[in-house]
Amino acid sequence: MKKIIIILSSIIVIIFIILMIFLFNTNSKDKDIEEVKENETKEEITKDDDNEFSKLSYYKDENLDRYKAYQTSNPDLNIEDIVTRVNLNLDKDTYTDTIPAVNLNTNYLLVNKFNYLDSNYIPDNLELLDNSYAKSGIYLVKEAKDSIEKLISDAKNDGMNIRIASAYRSYTYQENLYNNYVKNDGVEMADTYSARAGYSEHQTGLAVDVTRTYDNFNNFENTDEYNWMLENAVNYGFILRYPKDKEDITTYSFEAWHYRYVGVELAKKIKASNLTFDEYYVRYLDGTNN
Ligand code: DAL
Ligand code: ZN
Repeated sequence: MKKIIIILSSIIVIIFIILMIFLFNTNSKDKDIEEVKENETKEEITKDDDNEFSKLSYYKDENLDRYKAYQTSNPDLNIEDIVTRVNLNLDKDTYTDTIPAVNLNTNYLLVNKFNYLDSNYIPDNLELLDNSYAKSGIYLVKEAKDSIEKLISDAKNDGMNIRIASAYRSYTYQENLYNNYVKNDGVEMADTYSARAGYSEHQTGLAVDVTRTYDNFNNFENTDEYNWMLENAVNYGFILRYPKDKEDITTYSFEAWHYRYVGVELAKKIKASNLTFDEYYVRYLDGTNN
């Protein structure tokens, strides 16, 4: 009897062990299947993300890893803004990986902290502004000059007193200006409001600093002239270049007085888009020569 009990117990133990092995195997197979499924889903999501970036006309394949990294550190930004900002190099420190500006002597010339002008670049067709519109010795590219003079005289008919305090600046002039700012305020502060030599839009001969009869720039925002410019400058081909709340794109503090000539047609498009010139350039002008 004792023998039978031992044999039966052994059989029960063996059956139990076999059962356990079977259950364990099934479980781990299920897990394997689940893992494979999970990986497939992850891959699909990654593929979808890639496709989402690449749907944009201004997507650049060589920037894909940077788009992904920028998206991880800026999860609230939409795809358009991620691609635009990375294409502008805004995922990098300013004044690093800089390249020579293209589209020289055109209204599409983009100059910022990543796109520079040579020290010997002087725009074609610079012309002196009349003393009644600007301080003495102020030059602009002819097309921009004709347009700002018309703007100032039309504004006068609306009771506005607009004068140009600064326009074209040579490389050397900007160099001295920037160095003086650095002496007074230090590099970090100076970089928020002044361009380094070669990186100033003033060297293009297409930028103007407007004032109310040569009043301090910092007062300009509180004048009727400022509001008139916001509404009308576009009809003369000028856009506000460093708007409020766009500091993270332009990398400059808001400048109520700094306008950039791009021509009437483009100015209207840029204003309607509510984008800065930098953003508009990346989305619609980069790689084109028109
Ligand atoms: N103030 C503008 C950014 C310049 O220095 O060109
Ligand atoms: Zn300026």
